[in-house]
Amino acid sequence: MSENCTLTKIYSFSAAHRLNNDKFSKEKNIEIFGKCNNPNGHGHDYYLELTVIGKISDKTGMIVHLDDLDVVADSIIEPLDHKRLDIEIEYFTKVRASGENIAKYLWNEFVNKIPKPARLYHIRLWETSENFFDYRGE
Ligand code: NI
Repeated sequence: MSENCTLTKIYSFSAAHRLNNDKFSKEKNIEIFGKCNNPNGHGHDYYLELTVIGKISDKTGMIVHLDDLDVVADSIIEPLDHKRLDIEIEYFTKVRASGENIAKYLWNEFVNKIPKPARLYHIRLWETSENFFDYRGE
């Protein structure tokens, strides 16, 4: 079956994080992470561009039903919303909650949950209006 169409939907959530490495000295953490090392954390309004790929159904004219995609997205994003990621989300207590790692986390959460026959194609995570991270799994 040829997959010939993508659909991108944008979701948003707000969350806080602190970038720190316990193995570094206080000075080294400030040198590497700068303001992002602030002991009390700092927040971002994240925007996720979620792109799925699939074949246009003859029956519906769609590759995936948006409502079905929203249900999946809500189940993954809602737990992150208004959280201090590196304290409240278990995954990020072990993996630094950098934009890169949040994009990777989102890929891994979505990849097996996209309503079939569509599949996950691309993740773009905007951390600020000036930077975003792209992630595509293996
Ligand atoms: Ni930050």
